[in-house]
Amino acid sequence: SSSLPVFSQEEVTKHRSLENGIWVTYKGGVYDITEFVAMHPGGDKILLAAGGALEPFWALYAVHNQEHVLEILSEYKVGEL
Ligand code: HEM
Repeated sequence: SSSLPVFSQEEVTKHRSLENGIWVTYKGGVYDITEFVAMHPGGDKILLAAGGALEPFWALYAVHNQEHVLEILSEYKVGEL
């Protein structure tokens, strides 16, 4: 939504630990997935994307190419890139 704040890539990159929060980007959106990490069906692999883009990883793991996954992601949106 347009009411969400805009973050720089630099700001997103700061969030790549459980301590500082785990943020990722996807198609111009910024997501704080800290609370989801422990629930991820693919386990700790999700941390490979911490502070960066999901696209290269989801291109490799096609299991994410379904509406259900995008619905989960949308719950964690905190801003725009
Ligand atoms: C599986 C969500 C990031 C690797 C899944 C599944 C969901 C999910 C819902 C189960 C799909 C199904 O079987 O129907 C997410 C979300 C992510 C994310 C919301 C980001 C916020 C990643 C990343 C990687 C990854 C970055 C790899 C670097 C995997 C793998 C599986 C999986 C390998 C298959 C697990 C299995 O079935 O054994 N993910 N994922 N995921 N994810 Fe992710």
